[in-house]
Amino acid sequence: MPDVDEIKEAKKFYSDIPQKTEGFFLKGSNSLDWGIKNRLARIFNPKSGRTVMLAIDHGYFQGPTTGLERIDINILPLVPYADTVMLTRGILRSIVPPTTTKSIVLRVSGGTSILKELSNEDIAVNIEESIRLNVCAMAVQVFIGGEHERESIKNMTRMVDMGMRYGIPTLAVTAVGKDMNRGARYFRLAVRICAELGANYIKTYYIEKDFETVTASCPVPIVMAGGKKIPELDALTMAYNAVQQGASGVDMGRNIFQSESPVAMIQAVRAVVHDNETPEKAFDLYNTIKNQSAGL
Ligand code: R5P
Repeated sequence: MPDVDEIKEAKKFYSDIPQKTEGFFLKGSNSLDWGIKNRLARIFNPKSGRTVMLAIDHGYFQGPTTGLERIDINILPLVPYADTVMLTRGILRSIVPPTTTKSIVLRVSGGTSILKELSNEDIAVNIEESIRLNVCAMAVQVFIGGEHERESIKNMTRMVDMGMRYGIPTLAVTAVGKDMNRGARYFRLAVRICAELGANYIKTYYIEKDFETVTASCPVPIVMAGGKKIPELDALTMAYNAVQQGASGVDMGRNIFQSESPVAMIQAVRAVVHDNETPEKAFDLYNTIKNQSAGL
């Protein structure tokens, strides 16, 4: 108990300096509450307004895919270079040290495998588990136009309701069926539905034509999904184009962990996303770090 007799008279009121009222840096997020904004600010770098998410959740429907056979050996060294890591609770608890201060985006939908219809997902993690694991966002797959479109949208809206209650953002992950037309019209539809129904940010694929119309017509941040492995310079070009055309960062998996030098690739991706580096310069950086790591 402080001694009441010794309280000094308060005098530093700075009455001539009005208290600052700052807007929140992320698109469409200014009306959210403090906790949810704070979590978003641990995913998106407040300086650049963008994020490099490292996606390693593929095992939840496809098992130990190439590059993810040993997450302890191949992925943990990459974590310091990511702004956030997207994974399942199984990998989080079994492999990621709880001493990490890195923000976590938890995959919370699931229930199907590559052997069956993928759109038939359910909510696979309770909100209590997300709170217990101290995650910064929850990722739900949404299959617009898919066989189980309605159920997947309901999964997302349930997570949005629960997330808003406890201050945890929901990331809608737009999944595109093999037979679907991957045009701007489809992506505008898919991301807008997710945003209108409450997703706090949305992951979607880059398209060569009119991607800027997808980002412009989406009222919340979009992060670009990496997709299947392509040559490093092409992947850096895709990330560059996406952020220059309005994406608030990337959520990349295979193009990082299946690269010849994952640790070089993630740093090159960072240069493109956070420093607006050109793909060519970022590719030079990739080669420099790759050669250094190989001791050349
Ligand atoms: C896929 O369903 C997973 O959510 C991945 O996180 C996502 O596909 C991103 O990984 P990649 O860049 O390998 O496509």
